[in-house]
Amino acid sequence: MAKVYVTVQLPQQILQPLLQHDVTVWQGETPVPDDVLESEVSEVEGLLTILTDRIDAELLDKAPHLRIVSQMAVGVDNIDLAACHQRGIIVGHTPDVLTGTVADHAFALLGAIARRLPEGEREVRAGEWGPWQPFHLTGGDLHETVLGIVGMGRIGREVARRASGYDMEVIYSSPGTGPGERVDLPELLRRSDHVILCCALNDETRGLIGTRELELMKPTAYLVNVSRGPVVKTDDLADALQRGSIAGAALDVTDPEPLPSDHRLLDLPGCLVVPHIASASVRTRTAMASLAVENLLNGLEGKALRARFPSSA
Ligand code: DGY
Repeated sequence: MAKVYVTVQLPQQILQPLLQHDVTVWQGETPVPDDVLESEVSEVEGLLTILTDRIDAELLDKAPHLRIVSQMAVGVDNIDLAACHQRGIIVGHTPDVLTGTVADHAFALLGAIARRLPEGEREVRAGEWGPWQPFHLTGGDLHETVLGIVGMGRIGREVARRASGYDMEVIYSSPGTGPGERVDLPELLRRSDHVILCCALNDETRGLIGTRELELMKPTAYLVNVSRGPVVKTDDLADALQRGSIAGAALDVTDPEPLPSDHRLLDLPGCLVVPHIASASVRTRTAMASLAVENLLNGLEGKALRARFPSSA
């Protein structure tokens, strides 16, 4: 029986297979504080984490028995992978099971911002629904436009597949390949009517979209971020929206997260922000939690993980 720490509450039936081990679950509603995590890891062999847990070398030094970190997310940018590797700790994550749900969400965000749904909804709720006007709340089309996808991984490819249903021309910039024309980032930004960020956060993509990049975009273009907040320089984006360099942005992720309710992005009518919910369908979150538990169990038992990061490891 191994000691295991789970940093988030999960439904009992999902945790059940893990209960053959000595499992402690963080009971708080907020992310587990660093000091609690530090004291909890001293004995554990397995850790089930979420994206708000910082798993760095300092923490790993306090976890001499740790063998497996199983993250309930596809992104693992909160985990120091090199430090895990050095210590022989394997890392699991939850790709594939969330791909379609995140791609659906990217299109929900794009449709909402390009067709100005939040502005329309606010107007109705405020009792400001006036007489029909020919050009009131006119936005951009999705169909027959050019969609630029930054990051042609699993999610990027699913976004591209959905784009074909809208008769969109897909261009993309990415180390990986997929459907559509591969171009460099400046060309993608210049040509796209809409840009969807689907890349992982790493040293190459941190701060990828700032003033220079936003200035390359069309003033009628919309930006969607379903990757990680720090891919976009938040202040640069707020400035660009204020100046009208782009028409709007829909953000599932921000930097920082949570975004304070008095943040200036939220005063900009062309900005839609939702709280990191791209994978939040019941089916997908259930699948992610189950896969994280399965990865953890397999790691503890010395078996191959269904989803190990990186997948080639
Ligand atoms: C992930 O899996 O990385 C998402 O951001 C959370 O669904």
